[in-house]
Formats: sequence, structure tokens, C-alpha cells
Amino acid sequence: MPMHEDGPSALQTGTKPILPVTGKDLFVRRKGRDLLNVPDITIGGRGTTVLVGPNGAGKSLLLNVLAGLKTPDRGKVLWNGVAPSRPRYCRFGMVLQSAVLLRRTALANVEYALRAVGHDRREAMARAHRALDGAGLTKLAMASARVLSGGERQRLALARALAAGPDVLFLDEPTSSLDPASVLTIEAMVKAASDGGMRIVLIAHDLAQARRVSDEIMLMHNGRIVETAPTDRFFDAPESAEAAAFIAGKILIS
Ligand SMILES: Nc1ncnc2c1ncn2[C@@H]1O[C@H](COP(=O)(O)OP(=O)(O)OP(=O)(O)O)[C@@H](O)[C@H]1O
Ligand SMILES: [Mg+2]
Repeated sequence: MPMHEDGPSALQTGTKPILPVTGKDLFVRRKGRDLLNVPDITIGGRGTTVLVGPNGAGKSLLLNVLAGLKTPDRGKVLWNGVAPSRPRYCRFGMVLQSAVLLRRTALANVEYALRAVGHDRREAMARAHRALDGAGLTKLAMASARVLSGGERQRLALARALAAGPDVLFLDEPTSSLDPASVLTIEAMVKAASDGGMRIVLIAHDLAQARRVSDEIMLMHNGRIVETAPTDRFFDAPESAEAAAFIAGKILIS
């Protein structure tokens, strides 16, 4: 896929790489319940980590804390040793369950993101076209983002995030409510970016999808990370009772 030919962060020379993303002693408690209790987490190296776990496990909260979008009651998040800050966000990407898009054309949405990370107009335009192509959105380049379907919006949000070439990309359930073809397109885009060197962390409920796209699985339950393992080992030889139950489709009772 051409959108990522230069590898991550080909351009963002003004700021240092943000990997590894680390969290120490991350803790959030509300009404007597631990929503997040993660003593130590490191997102570094390469590949795709898929974060799984039942509803309310703390997956979205963890991503938001690591993204610096939510402040934990306790603990510290560092991006390559430094606290997240505005200029460093140009090296970070996030795609949410329902895409947040500008009220402009599909092309302008991607072009805007590319200009924001410093590409000149001509380069931004060329890259934006390639990104739309990679997302199967060429015919909709001049359509307003407002009229796109859910699946098209999601592909556009991902194309935009990938085109900017972040060091790390967080995706919170990017394929929920999409048709099978759109799911496969999104997965192919994620895989190509991952193969190109972008570090990806993705939340998924579909275990078949988790298996398809991940190098590593992280299972959360009750705000804690209960198991982290390479994908094959997670599914074939889970170490924790929680992981075994989760794979078997049993609800994890807190
Ligand atoms: N600001 C907050 N105040 C109170 N409770 C919160 C807050 N943010 C999250 N929670 C609670 O924290 C728990 C974890 O939420 P989170 O959204 O991280 O779950 P999740 O694992 O992403 O679940 P899902 O699979 O349903 O998206 C939930 O019980 C949620 O209600
Ligand atoms: Mg969630």
C-alpha cells in the first residue's frame, strides 16, 4: 500500500520519536471501583497489539490515559521519556469507534492532516490522493465527509491517520458496525501500516479479527491487564484462567 512508503514519521523532524509509550502505576478509581490499575505498561518495538476484554474492562480508558487525553488519579505516562504535549501529537494518531471528521471533502480531510504535519500543499495533495486510493475512496474524494456512510467515514478516518505517518496509532474498535468488506479493507490498511513499521494498538471485540491482525494480545479485566502474550500463545496456550475463559466465550465475572 503506497500511503506509507516512507515509513513512520518521515517528516516530523521537529519533534523526537514518541516511542516507547510507557505507563507507570496508572490508577483510576471511582465509587470504590478500580477502573484502571496498571502498574507497568510499555508500548514499544514494532507490530500490532490488540487489546481485548469484556465491556467496562478499562480498554478505552487505558488508551485515553496512554494518549494523554485523560489524567489518571495516580501514575505517569511518558512518550519516549517525556510527558505528552501538543507538538508531540503530530507523531501520534488515534481513530475512534465513530470517526471525527472535518465538514469538508474527503480529500480535504486528509490534506488538512498532511499539512498539519508539515507537508507543502503539492506534496500533501499527492499523498492525500494516494491515501484515499489505498482506502478505496478515490471516487469519493470530492464528496463531503458529511454524506459518507459509516464504513466510508471510518476508512477515511483511518486513511487520514495513516497518511500523517505517526509513530504510534491507537484504534478504539474501528470496525464495529461495519460490513464484512469494509472490515477487511480496514484490516488490510492496518496490516500494511504495521508491516511498514507503524506501532499499532487496537481494541477489538471480535476475536477472529484480533487473531488476524495482531502480533500480541493484551487481555484486560476489571481495570487490570491480566495477560499479555504473542497471539498464537494467547489463543493456543493461555496462561491465566481469565484468558482461557475469555477465549471460550465465557463472560468474565468480576
Ligand atoms: N470518567 C469516568 N467516570 C466514571 N466512570 C468511568 C469514567 N470513565 C470510564 N468509566 C467507567 O470505567 C469503566 C471502564 O470503561 P472503558 O470505557 O474503559 O471500558 P471498555 O473496556 O472500553 O469497555 P467497552 O468494551 O464497553 O468499550 C466502565 O465501567 C466505565 O463506566
Ligand atoms: Mg471501550
